[in-house]
Amino acid sequence: MGCLDIPNETVFTMEMTPIKVGVGATDEVAYDLKRLGVRHALIVTDHGVMKLGLPERVRTLLQEDGISADIFDDVHVEPTDKSFEAIASFVHGRDYDGFVAIGGGSSIDSAKAANLFTAYPAPVLDYVNKPIGKGLPVPGPLKPLVALPTTAGTGSETTAVAIMDVLSLKVKTGISHRYLRPTMAIIDPLNTVTLPPMATAYPGFDVLTHALESYTSRPYDARPKHKPEERPVYVGSNPISDLWCEKALEYLGRYLRRAVLNGMDVEARTYMALAATYAGIGFGNAGVHVPHAIAYPIAGLVKNFSPPDYPKDEPIIPHGLSVIITAPSTFRWTYPVSPERHLRAAQLLGANVNGLTAAEMPEVLPRTLLSLMRDTGIPNGLAALGYGDADAGALIEGTLKQQRLLVNCPRDVGAEELRHIIQSSLEYW
Ligand SMILES: [Fe+2]
Repeated sequence: MGCLDIPNETVFTMEMTPIKVGVGATDEVAYDLKRLGVRHALIVTDHGVMKLGLPERVRTLLQEDGISADIFDDVHVEPTDKSFEAIASFVHGRDYDGFVAIGGGSSIDSAKAANLFTAYPAPVLDYVNKPIGKGLPVPGPLKPLVALPTTAGTGSETTAVAIMDVLSLKVKTGISHRYLRPTMAIIDPLNTVTLPPMATAYPGFDVLTHALESYTSRPYDARPKHKPEERPVYVGSNPISDLWCEKALEYLGRYLRRAVLNGMDVEARTYMALAATYAGIGFGNAGVHVPHAIAYPIAGLVKNFSPPDYPKDEPIIPHGLSVIITAPSTFRWTYPVSPERHLRAAQLLGANVNGLTAAEMPEVLPRTLLSLMRDTGIPNGLAALGYGDADAGALIEGTLKQQRLLVNCPRDVGAEELRHIIQSSLEYW
């Protein structure tokens, strides 16, 4: 029993998607769908990936093995409740017995939604996390979903969450349930070699923050005890998620710069793809905290930022950029909770942590992050994205809506702490 007579959690969970990984793994997609009993599949992708030809190639591979497949290529990049409704009405009455997601997190999350709404049609908000939606559990197991990620980023291929914006409330939230987790991930580094430099760097920093936030999240046994049916998907850092996060950080330290500098570096692409999946397994069980929570209003309130290597039709702050931009300040602030973890993370990312003075120690992780950011073309803080002091109130308000993530923070965090983090993230160098 804890000192307040509230028992602490003693149990944690670790769930993950079976994975097939390697150069050319895509060629085995029909074998796996057949093995899973799929005869009539829906391929879910977006227009950008469609243009590169991979979805058509996968459809041909499936057809050669007697599996028919339709393609839904209208995935909204950064899905919304409306885009989930659109995919729900698309699948209505079509009896797909399996799903193939091809793309980044948006396509994989949309395929999770397609799978859910095929099996259990309902208004989208019924399943959306409380307090924004009703938070109803997914009623039962879904059809097989095989995910082929084309970015080394979100790790959505291994997670039980489908993220989206609720447009009327201007808030990002999602549907979380273990039944949403893909049945299998096919990770083929060759599907990422054509990504341009910034479409490699931003998702790379998404991977980095997944690993770092999970590694430093409030430990599972420093939380209240849950009944098994009420235990959240994100249970907090634990000995198993730590292993995946540590290895992901090590790969990022070695391969992120290389993958950005030379997209055809297949070794770097392979380890970045692995890092994304490892970090996905880590955060899919432990959970992310402050940088991901602040990232939601940072992306949602975008003014006129338009990054290189992205479509120019509307201003956008890509997810990976929105999460890394406050990370150096956040990890300076969380340092006192677990100095050894912060030093270890910096070391895994490539920093020398021997012989540091007491004053240098809290700075080593922020400095390591800043060096990676500068080397890969990340803008210099929130000011470079168009935010100033006057925006702090709106950013704080948006962040405080993300209690689902803020409970994972190792320190108690409210408006005052967020203001400090935001103000120290305006300009770094
Ligand atoms: Fe993320």
